[in-house]
Amino acid sequence: MKAIHPLIAAVPLLLARTSAHPHTQRFPLLQPRNDTTNPNLDPPGWNSTALAALPKIESAHTQLSVLKSAYPSHGIFIVHNTPYTVPTSNLLFTQKVHSLDPGIIWDSTYLWNTYVVSSGTFTFSTIYNQDFLLGGRYYQYQDNITFVPVAKQTTAINTTTWMANIDGSLLVSGFTIPGTHDSAAQTSRVSWLPELGGTQSSSIPDQLLNGIRFFDLRVGSASDPLKLRHGMLELEGTAQDVFRNFQDFLTSHPSETILCSIKWDFDGAGQPADFESRLESLFNDGNHGNWYTSPTLPKLDDARGKIVLLRRYGGNLGFYMDVANNTPDHTDSTGQFRVQDLYSPSTLSDGTPDYNTKWNAVNHFLETHRPSNSSQLNLNFLSAVNIEGVTMLYKPGVWANEINARMQTWLDTIESQTANLGIVAMDFPDVPGGDWEFAIKEAMMGSGQTLVHVAGQVKLTERLILTNFA
Ligand SMILES: *[C@@H]1O[C@H](CO)[C@@H](O)[C@H](O)[C@H]1NC(C)=O
Ligand SMILES: *[C@@H]1O[C@H](CO)[C@@H](O)[C@H](O)[C@H]1NC(C)=O
Ligand SMILES: *[C@@H]1O[C@H](CO)[C@@H](O)[C@H](O)[C@H]1NC(C)=O
Ligand SMILES: *[C@@H]1O[C@H](CO)[C@@H](O)[C@H](O)[C@H]1NC(C)=O
Ligand SMILES: *[C@@H]1O[C@H](CO)[C@@H](O)[C@H](O)[C@H]1NC(C)=O
Repeated sequence: MKAIHPLIAAVPLLLARTSAHPHTQRFPLLQPRNDTTNPNLDPPGWNSTALAALPKIESAHTQLSVLKSAYPSHGIFIVHNTPYTVPTSNLLFTQKVHSLDPGIIWDSTYLWNTYVVSSGTFTFSTIYNQDFLLGGRYYQYQDNITFVPVAKQTTAINTTTWMANIDGSLLVSGFTIPGTHDSAAQTSRVSWLPELGGTQSSSIPDQLLNGIRFFDLRVGSASDPLKLRHGMLELEGTAQDVFRNFQDFLTSHPSETILCSIKWDFDGAGQPADFESRLESLFNDGNHGNWYTSPTLPKLDDARGKIVLLRRYGGNLGFYMDVANNTPDHTDSTGQFRVQDLYSPSTLSDGTPDYNTKWNAVNHFLETHRPSNSSQLNLNFLSAVNIEGVTMLYKPGVWANEINARMQTWLDTIESQTANLGIVAMDFPDVPGGDWEFAIKEAMMGSGQTLVHVAGQVKLTERLILTNFA
């Protein structure tokens, strides 16, 4: 089995220092007032007379905490009096405090301004003896100042428990979920035509540890309806094996939820009459996971520690997914489900794969992504394969190399934004790069966090720290 090195496993928290802005002047900085631990103690040099004159500082503090949770990856500072020069670069917005916090405006002496910024250098001039709130700390400055974000506090993304950071009131269709296509078709489990039938290099437990939360299981055979398969190829193992993997993972990581699609995929025989009741007895026996089998999609909090059934077989349980065949864009009759599954684009005239047609279908889905907390589940398959004639050369891994790379480029262009991309189901999500960066990025897009690259690693920016001066 291929050894997986989770991107983040061994990476400690780190503080990435960037070089100081060359034009920054050094100005006197008084000691920070450690508001958290010592709200009443003035540090040396602190002008408590000036501070006492400031009105309703708690109100500004309230606003700060609201903003910090609303903009977890931005720098937020609040100043009073209007600076002559306001930040212009990377400014998300500026707002008079009183519009959010009426407690302040009652004192007409002070006009407080709030700045929410992502990064950059910000100059305020002609501010005398002001108080600043930086990340919950109060500072006083005596003169013109330039804010330079010299550090970004970043923390490693823990892909094993990334859903712990997601707002549990969101529907499971309401944020991005990285998934795999034909999740159990690990190349090493395909005994015949492994390169053609294999769509994954990693086991289900490894996929889980690396952040994958949507699984696409195909089952069926003459002897055992729950035998895993991929189209015409039988795979080693059964659905029970995978369900036990789910159970083990969720028992140790109860913040997470798994979305599991089950498809009857055996052409040799129709779905047996007792297919769903066989599944149901596994769902209920306590050894194969705790299943959520209502026909409507739950909120994350109602699904943590559980497996949400997505049904692609004839039956009554779970959320039904009407996956039209080889479709570039299909919405079901209820409007609750939309899918891109152009798995076999026709080949180009020279017999080579038509990457552009596939990518256009993927990209169209990305560009028309749903709003946060959408009740429509979107499922975007990045996978494809050519199965005819000379084009049999173009196996799932060949397609994944190309389409995953294009996906990664797309993600890079919107790195600092968040988007609900729905489920993005991939073959070989550990390529390119073999570091799962790709899946992680998708995962974090749903959580309203910003990603940065630090020394070749992807990190989650927890909070931009605007510190003092170079
Ligand atoms: C990630 O979370 C898992 C499960 O809680 C834990 O075992 C692991 O040590 C964490 N890794 C890091 C880098 O924090
Ligand atoms: C400020 O408070 C934090 C935690 O509340 C504490 O860890 C830190 O040591 C304090 N810093 C100073 C300078 O008192
Ligand atoms: C403290 O602030 C008050 C009011 O702004 C000012 O009059 C006084 O000179 C300041 N004291 C020092 C030591 O800066
Ligand atoms: C502060 O800024 C004002 C306005 O730009 C400028 O006239 C003044 O010289 C600056 N003071 C210092 C010490 O840089
Ligand atoms: C998401 O939608 C659900 C169902 O409509 C609602 O109860 C929940 O409050 C919403 N959550 C957010 C963060 O909007």
